[in-house]
Amino acid sequence: MNTDKVVIHIDGLTKHYGNVQALNDLSLDVYQGEIFGYLGPNGAGKTTTIRLLLDLIRPTAGHATILGMDVQRDSVALHRHIGNLPGELGLWEQMTGWELVRYLGELRGGIDEKYVSELAERLDMDMNRRVRDCSSGMKRKIGLIQALMHKPQVLILDEPTNGLDPLVQQTFYQLMREVTAEGRTVFLSSHNLREVEMICDRVGILNKGRLQAVERISALKQVRFRWMTLKVANGADPSAFERLEGVSDVSRENDSIRFRVTGELDPVIKLAAQYHVIDLTYEEPSLEEIFLEYYGEGKKGGQA
Ligand SMILES: Nc1ncnc2c1ncn2[C@@H]1O[C@H](COP(=O)(O)OP(=O)(O)O)[C@@H](O)[C@H]1O
Ligand SMILES: [Mg+2]
Repeated sequence: MNTDKVVIHIDGLTKHYGNVQALNDLSLDVYQGEIFGYLGPNGAGKTTTIRLLLDLIRPTAGHATILGMDVQRDSVALHRHIGNLPGELGLWEQMTGWELVRYLGELRGGIDEKYVSELAERLDMDMNRRVRDCSSGMKRKIGLIQALMHKPQVLILDEPTNGLDPLVQQTFYQLMREVTAEGRTVFLSSHNLREVEMICDRVGILNKGRLQAVERISALKQVRFRWMTLKVANGADPSAFERLEGVSDVSRENDSIRFRVTGELDPVIKLAAQYHVIDLTYEEPSLEEIFLEYYGEGKKGGQA
């Protein structure tokens, strides 16, 4: 990513629906060539943000530019450079995939049929199928194809992998990497931390209409920790785990020992092997825990 070049510039963007503060004073820059993950639970305001960026709704306050163009004033010109996957795709049920992309393509001045075929093949999509006979996952694929087919400079995708099977998700991730390798920019929303971690350069965490933090994924990964729970036979003594470096917050409940692993895993496993282990879980912390760790007491904060 090229931090010298801001592609999406958002300044104080706010959207209220009556008493509902869907988005509050969002300011954010997205750089050229990055995959920016816009992460938040349902109702956080992700779709609202995306609809504001696409000029589908008007802000209560604030403004945004994409590629230096105002998203409201320059909307028509701008949309030639944007590929967009809405959360809810309105598609014409009678059309086939091909008819649909040709129709949309004409609005944008033609399509590259060879590229569409290539995308369809990679996403394993039969474009001769009528939309009404498509599953939600297939509709999602058509949505992705129409978002990508004109090789836009900026992709704005609302939870793009929802409803895609895991294999197709992998293809999607690969496509996104190719897009950014070409210096193009991706803004995608997600409620899936793992997904964001896997493919994004930076993540913005949205909760209740407020941006909580923006960080590089690489910085967050440095504070990664896991919770381990060992179910062991005959009243095991957890104190040995307490003495291990990189293990903390050891607790014991009945026949289970639970602790946080921040350091190396190997000594933990070697120690656990001395017990009679009946069950073991090794969980990722919640996003909230990661952020508490990152911004918590005595920890260095970081700016992305
Ligand atoms: N057209 C609307 N009218 C009233 N409230 C809305 C409207 N659209 C969204 N909201 C509310 O705004 C908040 C954010 O919604 P949304 O942007 O869809 O969140 P997300 O996409 O993160 O799930 C939610 O509380 C939602 O109910
Ligand atoms: Mg949404």
